[in-house]
Amino acid sequence: MDGMEPKTMPNTRKCDFSSGTRPEERFLSGGDLEGSYGKVGRELRGESDVESIVTNVVKEAVSKDKTVPAALLRLHFHDCFIRGCDGSVLLESKGGKKAEKDGPPNISLHAFYVIENAKKAVEDACPGIVSCADILALAARDSVVLSGGPRWDVPKGRKDGRTSKATETKQLPSPTFNISQLQHSFSLRGLSLEDLVALTGGHTLGFSHCSSFQNRIHNFNSTHDVDPTLHPSFAASLKNICPINNKVKNAGTSMDPSPTTFDNTHYKLILQGKTLFSSDQALLTTPKTRNLVYKFATSKKAFHTAFANSMIKMSSINGGQEVRKNCRVVN
Ligand code: HEM
Repeated sequence: MDGMEPKTMPNTRKCDFSSGTRPEERFLSGGDLEGSYGKVGRELRGESDVESIVTNVVKEAVSKDKTVPAALLRLHFHDCFIRGCDGSVLLESKGGKKAEKDGPPNISLHAFYVIENAKKAVEDACPGIVSCADILALAARDSVVLSGGPRWDVPKGRKDGRTSKATETKQLPSPTFNISQLQHSFSLRGLSLEDLVALTGGHTLGFSHCSSFQNRIHNFNSTHDVDPTLHPSFAASLKNICPINNKVKNAGTSMDPSPTTFDNTHYKLILQGKTLFSSDQALLTTPKTRNLVYKFATSKKAFHTAFANSMIKMSSINGGQEVRKNCRVVN
């Protein structure tokens, strides 16, 4: 800065970032980011320009890379499950102190640059107001909408955390979890079995590496080489992609055959034994969760409604103390 440039004052009206929205408009179903209401609809819903700034950055990134929505949705989930939704997953490791980002389950997280770009754009318009955690929550919502999923109103006002430890990523649920382990992990965060089944529908998007389901297709247990709950032809195709001595670095497969569309295919596949993780298959092992899988497999609308409601719950888990200037480092 040479000090000679005219300084434009941030327009605070544009930066109004309150969380008030009429409850009946907490979410609107449909694949169009602006619903059928366009800008007028956004204003009626009380959305600030901050939201449009984030949306535009996400849209731009998605137009160049179709794997971005899945990545952002998972980033938000991993953020919320460790220390609440406080952007702790976005912090860089410092010296010998490894941050969450570098914990084993998070090595495959990606698209951090989208949040960093959105933060820069938001800071230019409205400095010091919007946390990285809020930007991530908005970007996750936009990712779902851009993939044809439901729209919901994101509660705002999260603060960013100042602590991020790789060791704490052990607290994330594992793909080998059974239903009681999953239930426990979710209930620790105030989330119910219905939230578990609905949020697992996030696995309609994206990709998994072989390591995440390898245990099911080789030496499963003392009596079965392959997990008997896997459909045999599906298991054979997974073995083909992920041979026991796999040498292909990023080998893996998409979560479902439509990995960029936020549909209910994932639930249909659970019923056929064609999902990748034991944790997804485990949803059939209690009557309550099984009934929900049936419900969501039969009705995309029911899935979308439940997903939006559970995302609002998950994304409201508290954490954080400050509005970070740069998402990679504490202030
Ligand atoms: C219920 C417990 C869950 C477990 C055990 C689990 C586990 C996993 C695993 C192992 C992967 C593959 C990682 C890799 O191999 O690269 C994955 C990917 C993914 N998960 Fe989950 N997950 C869970 C819940 C969720 C939730 C609640 C969401 C979002 C609402 C979510 C969204 C995703 C997405 C979108 C991907 C694909 C990421 C990409 O393509 O970059 N997951 N999950």
